Amino acid sequence: MSDALIREARAALKRAERVAVLTGAGVSAESGIPTFRGAEGFWRSYRPEDLATPQAYARDPILVWEWYAMRFEIVTNAQPNRAHGLLAELEQEKHLTLVTQNVDGLHKRAGSKSVLELHGNITQSRCESCGYLDGLEPGFEIPPHCSRCGERARPNVVWFGESLPQATFQNAINAFADADLALIIGTSGVVEPAASLARLAKEQGAYIIEINPERTPLSSAADTSLPMSALEGMTVLMAGDERV
Ligand code: OAD
Repeated sequence: MSDALIREARAALKRAERVAVLTGAGVSAESGIPTFRGAEGFWRSYRPEDLATPQAYARDPILVWEWYAMRFEIVTNAQPNRAHGLLAELEQEKHLTLVTQNVDGLHKRAGSKSVLELHGNITQSRCESCGYLDGLEPGFEIPPHCSRCGERARPNVVWFGESLPQATFQNAINAFADADLALIIGTSGVVEPAASLARLAKEQGAYIIEINPERTPLSSAADTSLPMSALEGMTVLMAGDERV
């Protein structure tokens, strides 16, 4: 990674007025939350793609809830890391929209306000009958039931094959279409339509910075790819004399 490229990315961020951010599981890796497609993402030998579906839930709701309960516990015991914190600080300085595929709620806990959760939030259940959202507490019963109507509730997340919450996704599209600069952090870029946001920003002429220790299908669209962890990448972008 040349210093010139880092300087260019910093300068682009400094110049940008409207910033759109897309984060994935990698931004929470340093909080101890396993990514989906890394080896640690597997649980009792199930692949996430085989559990996060309406079909899996219809077949075995208890199994799916046990997986979510395990992840709920990790998330509630985790703390936002410095990458979450730096993104919250950047929001103080820019017109910034943070779009996340993560269901862990760590961006909000780190202080980000303008957060669009594309895939829902693991700390809530959603009634299968009336749609009411309940906050889950540690040790919640499996499966949980709606506090309003008593019917069974499902995790308040988006599963493969389901549509994203429409208004949330439209707001994400608007933010990426309007951005001068897009930051793509810690996502494998293989899950649509989230990944298409980066390409949309590119088509509209935004400067694209990717932070990911691995190359992804989005890397070729990036003006600068920082082959670093989220924490290192955000530190490099926001530190030093050229601090935004
Ligand atoms: P993935 O697990 O697919 O990808 C995580 C990405 O983070 C990979 O590209 C890693 O190289 C990168 N990574 C790992 N450690 C990192 C670190 N410390 N800093 C920065 N990057 C790091 O996770 P997502 O792309 O978020 O959807 O997955 C997208 C969606 O697929 C998820 O929201 C979920 C999943 O199945 C649903 O559940 C609907």
